[in-house]
Amino acid sequence: AETHYHDFVVEAKPVKRLCRTHNIITVNKKFPGPTLTVRNGDTLVIKALNKARYNVTLHWHGIRQMRTPWADGPEYVTQCPIQPGATYTYRFTIEDQEGTLWWHAHSKWLRATVYGALVILPKLGSPYPFPKPRHEVPIILGEWWDRDIISVLRQALFTGAAPNVSDAYTINGQPGDLYRCSSKGTFKVSVNSGDRVLLRVINAALNQQLFFTIANHQLTVVGADAIYHKPFATRVIMLGPGQTTDVLLTANQRPARYYMAARAYASARGAPFDNTTTTAVLEYNTARGGSSSTSRPLLPRLPAFNDTATATAFENGLRSIPSEAAKVPTKIDHSLFFTVGLGFVNCNPGPRCQGPNNTRFAASMNNVSFVLPRRTSLLQAYYNNIPGIFTTDFPPVPPLQFNYTGNVPRSLWQPRFGTKLYKLKYGSTVQIVLQDTGIFSTEDHPIHLHGYHFFVVGQGFGNFNPRTDPARFNLVDPPARNTIDVPVGGWAVIRFVADNPGSVWLFHCHIDAHLTWGLAMSFLVENGIGELQTVEPPPADLPRC
Ligand code: C2O
Repeated sequence: AETHYHDFVVEAKPVKRLCRTHNIITVNKKFPGPTLTVRNGDTLVIKALNKARYNVTLHWHGIRQMRTPWADGPEYVTQCPIQPGATYTYRFTIEDQEGTLWWHAHSKWLRATVYGALVILPKLGSPYPFPKPRHEVPIILGEWWDRDIISVLRQALFTGAAPNVSDAYTINGQPGDLYRCSSKGTFKVSVNSGDRVLLRVINAALNQQLFFTIANHQLTVVGADAIYHKPFATRVIMLGPGQTTDVLLTANQRPARYYMAARAYASARGAPFDNTTTTAVLEYNTARGGSSSTSRPLLPRLPAFNDTATATAFENGLRSIPSEAAKVPTKIDHSLFFTVGLGFVNCNPGPRCQGPNNTRFAASMNNVSFVLPRRTSLLQAYYNNIPGIFTTDFPPVPPLQFNYTGNVPRSLWQPRFGTKLYKLKYGSTVQIVLQDTGIFSTEDHPIHLHGYHFFVVGQGFGNFNPRTDPARFNLVDPPARNTIDVPVGGWAVIRFVADNPGSVWLFHCHIDAHLTWGLAMSFLVENGIGELQTVEPPPADLPRC
């Protein structure tokens, strides 16, 4: 195994998109940021220097961080932010993960532009469990705002209005041909007829589920969230923010130019969204070595924005391979039921409270709207026994039972604020029913667990039925993921073993608007016995609050 050293300088840079130039925060003045390519078993050492004018942290989305939670990155959860002018070195080892992950800022909404791919190849000499591709290409889907992202965040935080929707979707930082002033930068992949290509598709969008497809080409899904899955063929994939999907395609069509395209899957009823389409080009080289043609590429048909059936069919097609499926927990120690949803809170009129009738948005799990500490991080508070930072009374079930996806009385719209954790013993098995609520509106929620991946043993629409639904769980080959898109007006059930010790692991909606409103909680996984079951001590340069 190798150790890879990188310098990540976080700094502002003027970038021109959609005919306008404005300053965005980048890593190493690249947008998207640098791709990290490593092998399973390698160690990464990334020295982050903050030259921006905001506090920042970096998160390695999906990396398990076994015993190294100090490198996980969510601000005020596992570390205090890196202040302007300061540095912090993230050091971690990849243990038994292969495929595509990504890294992003985990501070305010800076991940809008601070992100990049993290590619984990098999160990030297071990093959992929699928035919070897000729090309491998990260395809990072994102969102672009004409406005400064911090001002967009303020609007989301303090008003009852939905946050400003983005001005474009992007593929590898580029809106593509269908947007104004964008065709020069459109991302291209060149292939020869017959080539096999592995696309590592990442949804780095801040607030939007996306469909992705390629004109005339069949996609074969082979992995998701850096876990191999059984190959299955599909025209369209759907990714919630945070999710990754690896797809193979074969250049077996007439040599020409074809668009790959992504567009919103906007399951929320009535919520505003960007209804435009981002494109990149798949271009065949001709026999003479030139590119196929300069004619306009063929556009694929994308599903309608509210095509829940296509999204569901894709998710049902994803199945784990036998070696992974053998790890599905069958005996459950902690059986939890969390509601996930949006609501409003009353607030004092003023600049921080601009919603209708003196309200602003809030979101919650089990009616607790998560509040981050400011004096120190949760992990430091736990490690150093600092009292008064958090409590461990997160409710295992909702405080109140109601018709979750029905018409919910207004009295249930108001969550309570709290920094509540749920304690898990090292090695215990956990099942969580995630139930979307119709408080304010039903909507998909891409729920992400730090430090783990989990099995999705079931999902469906309406209210979870504890008497009939468990009988239909898939314990044979359920997909394994680090982020589950809980269906609109529905539920999903996940299982995992709490085998990553000694830390606080954030569990949250990966739509940044919802995270900002409090759609999060944290697990506190206790240490076990012996070195392999105990967290490592904090690095000396861990930032101070
Ligand atoms: Cu990719 Cu807590 O996030």
